[in-house]
Amino acid sequence: MKLVVLTGAGISAESGVSTFRDPDGVWMKMDPMKLATPEAFAADPALVHGFYNARRAQLREVEPNAAHRALAQLERKLGNDFMLVTQNVDDLHERGGSRDVVHMHGQLQQAWCRSCDTRISWDEDLSTGTECPNCGSAGRLRPDIVWFGEMPYRMDEILGALDTCDMFVAIGTSGAVYPAAGFVEIAANAGAETLELNLQPSEGTRLFDDFRHGPATGIVPAFVDEILAR
Ligand code: APR
Ligand code: ZN
Repeated sequence: MKLVVLTGAGISAESGVSTFRDPDGVWMKMDPMKLATPEAFAADPALVHGFYNARRAQLREVEPNAAHRALAQLERKLGNDFMLVTQNVDDLHERGGSRDVVHMHGQLQQAWCRSCDTRISWDEDLSTGTECPNCGSAGRLRPDIVWFGEMPYRMDEILGALDTCDMFVAIGTSGAVYPAAGFVEIAANAGAETLELNLQPSEGTRLFDDFRHGPATGIVPAFVDEILAR
């Protein structure tokens, strides 16, 4: 059975990482157009670096939860018949044991040099003066995050997997942002069974064959146990 799982911020919520569109979410307090677009970065790189530096630093204080660990168990069992795609830029899937995570929106712990185009693993703060360890140019590193208006990563791989999967499961995502929000329809058109696991109905709930609502740390391990028992 070929399974594709898409996760969003909701899977990391119980680890203490804020979601974006819940009442206490990041975009409820700050304007994404001033922090998460190429134009915002060009206009005020120090402001944008500060926003991502704070989120990168927070990763040191949070831990993966039972939902992350359950998906790692599923990967171990299904191997190449399993693809984990995440919209999240945290490292909690990896720290929960997942080995192959498709970060379609990039990663907080990676910097991207706009001079030499290399991507560098990065745990510290970034600033407008930071030098690239590869080419030495200063002030040319940006967070390796896919901003609004930019093309998500590894889309060919993702679309190929959606076209051939038997089941597609979306976990902890509001269905507010494309192309991820359209994955359920691509999978359904390819004949896959579709399931939403979320705290509450998302914007796309009616597009799914089935849905279970509750906290990810409860409903995701239960779902994984069902799949492993098949
Ligand atoms: N368990 C399960 N689901 C939860 C939990 C929880 N404990 N807490 C919140 N959720 C659900 C919310 O109900 C909501 O549907 O997670 C979803 C989070 O939605 P968003 O905050 O919109 O996050 P996400 O869908 O990942 O956003 C997509 O938007 O800002 C961009 O690039 C950013 O990747 C992000 C994208
Ligand atoms: Zn460089």
